[in-house]
Amino acid sequence: MVYETIILDKKPPIAYLTFNRPDVLNSINLQMIREFRDALENVGSDKGLRILIITGAGRAFQAGADIKYMTGLSLLEFHEYNHSGMKNMDLLESLPQVSIAAVNGYALGGGLEVALACDIRILSEKARVGVPEVKLGILPGAGGTQRLPRIVGKGRALEMITTGEMIDAQEAYRIGLANKVVPDGEVVKAAEEMAQKILANGPLAVIMAKDAVNVGKDLPQDQACEYAHKNITFLFSTQDAKEGLQAFVDKRAPIWKGE
Ligand code: COA
Repeated sequence: MVYETIILDKKPPIAYLTFNRPDVLNSINLQMIREFRDALENVGSDKGLRILIITGAGRAFQAGADIKYMTGLSLLEFHEYNHSGMKNMDLLESLPQVSIAAVNGYALGGGLEVALACDIRILSEKARVGVPEVKLGILPGAGGTQRLPRIVGKGRALEMITTGEMIDAQEAYRIGLANKVVPDGEVVKAAEEMAQKILANGPLAVIMAKDAVNVGKDLPQDQACEYAHKNITFLFSTQDAKEGLQAFVDKRAPIWKGE
């Protein structure tokens, strides 16, 4: 697929995905939803990739649904538009790669929902984030009503969702929505620095640890711990775990093979 609304740049082991409709602050139309899905499937099936960094062209990460586009949709068309956008977030969250949102500017509505579906969020000091949908008479339809409270707690999420007000990067950091706030223009660099720390670790261990967190979050705690126990038991049987443990004993850096 040739992309017009996004850019996918693969530099293994890192993939860079950039939302690219800067004239409309990268707002999301159906074409972008389809291209985003194709890119996520492409990244997810590429064994040479271990990190996905998502950012936006211009002054926004993504300003949410394309409001002008939405005004022309029938109810059935809206159903397809919103449902396919929502399913993209599930796909993003379940990727084997670690995803980092490099939030360069506004992340509003669906734009914040993309960042919420990423594993890690790094914000520019100039970023503004929020879920303004109630101001338009709708609600965050791509998982925001579920992921936001899981990340910042129900009270703070409901304040953001029902007031629709934006918060700045420092406030996002204070409430745990941002992992890190960095100077303007340095979000991708900061994401790459974090990526290097992740890439230094056992590749299978990172995949299985993310899987344990993602699957476990929706299970009762005892079942979630049992699930994580199965993942570590699997990891213990791998060559990488033997190498990682032995390298510590030998006081040397491990050499990972992903086996
Ligand atoms: N959908 C469609 N177009 C959008 C958009 C969106 N979500 N967000 C911004 N744009 C367009 C604007 O219409 C404008 O286009 P124009 O130059 O043809 O008029 C352009 O992007 C620049 O936006 P503008 O509003 O002029 O920039 P600003 O700096 O004054 O304000 C925002 C920035 C993000 C505060 C403002 O654009 C905004 O509130 N956008 C809507 C966010 C939203 O409600 N998202 C959830 C949708 S469900």
